[in-house]
Amino acid sequence: MKILVAGGAGYIGSVLIPKLLERGYQVDVLDLLWFGNHLPDDVNVFQKDILNFTEEELGQYDQVVFLAGLSNDPMAEYSPGKNFISNAALPAYLAYSAKRAGVKRYIYASSCSVYGYTVNELYDESSPAVSNYPYGISKLQGESGCLQLNDDNFSVISLRQGTVSGYSLRMRFDLVVNAMFKSAINERLITVNNPAIWRPILSIRDAASAYIRAIESGMSISGIFNIASGNYTIGEIADYVKDGVMEYLGIDARIDIKHIQDYRNYKVSIEKANNILSFKPRFDVKNIISGLVQNMDRFKDYDNPGYYNIEVFKALDANHLQVT
Ligand SMILES: NC(=O)c1ccc[n+]([C@@H]2O[C@H](COP(=O)([O-])OP(=O)(O)OC[C@H]3O[C@@H](n4cnc5c(N)ncnc54)[C@H](O)[C@@H]3O)[C@@H](O)[C@H]2O)c1
Repeated sequence: MKILVAGGAGYIGSVLIPKLLERGYQVDVLDLLWFGNHLPDDVNVFQKDILNFTEEELGQYDQVVFLAGLSNDPMAEYSPGKNFISNAALPAYLAYSAKRAGVKRYIYASSCSVYGYTVNELYDESSPAVSNYPYGISKLQGESGCLQLNDDNFSVISLRQGTVSGYSLRMRFDLVVNAMFKSAINERLITVNNPAIWRPILSIRDAASAYIRAIESGMSISGIFNIASGNYTIGEIADYVKDGVMEYLGIDARIDIKHIQDYRNYKVSIEKANNILSFKPRFDVKNIISGLVQNMDRFKDYDNPGYYNIEVFKALDANHLQVT
């Protein structure tokens, strides 16, 4: 099977693609390479904007995975206009072109951010998805733009992922577990803006499995699936990080609790993904932390701006480089 992964050179793609190759798939990547290229040498990478990839080029693939766009709130808030183009219009445009080109399946990287500020109930895929910030609104728009193209000949799957964390060759330290780990080591301090806020956390290794399950599911399967390794409060995550750096590294980090309001608060049910995609998470926050410890020799340059999406994005913007 031949798969195109748009945005495949990013944080999730850099873990997913080697696993797809291991399973014998032929994989090409379409990516602007904002964060460089950390993929195996034998992956064919088209360094261009999704908007410039033709239907003719798309026609050679069985499945297309969309992992591109602006992938966090700071980027979306820095440039709301580019955010709506990249996260709402772009995935729908690629799905539309892929369908016209004869691609059979399209998998969209959605986010649990679409749930906004909830009332501490477990949300499933039929719960209200209401947010009032650019990233959440645009991820929902992108999702519905893709899903409306679903039919018997074109299966569209949207994976609403929790906050992904863990080690990737294309590392990010702007995601909650990774960010707390970094500051625990660097500053001996873990700042918790609001300990009571809920977040579904998704180990990057479980994220890769979810995409594989979606790719390998029967063509009659489509729709929205929540994907997470587990639901945690921010206070609980801080406790795990504090205990982890003490246990593995002997570092005594202090937790500083603030009481800043957050506009995102949600926990999700993954029962549907479990039942239909056979997605079963295997890694919890403790596993994520031990994975970071195992790989920490590879990212000691914590101040490298490449680890922080907003820094790279601002630099690209300042230099008038292509950000769609
Ligand atoms: N990381 C998370 O916690 C998380 C959680 C939920 C959803 N998501 C979604 O998953 C996807 C992947 O996340 P990530 O953390 O790997 O992101 P990332 O920022 O590391 O990677 C995104 C990649 O897309 C590429 N890209 C962006 N716009 C492009 C365009 N127009 N044409 C070609 N390439 C383009 C970039 O060069 C980059 O390599 C995103 O859509 C994000 O919104 C991520």
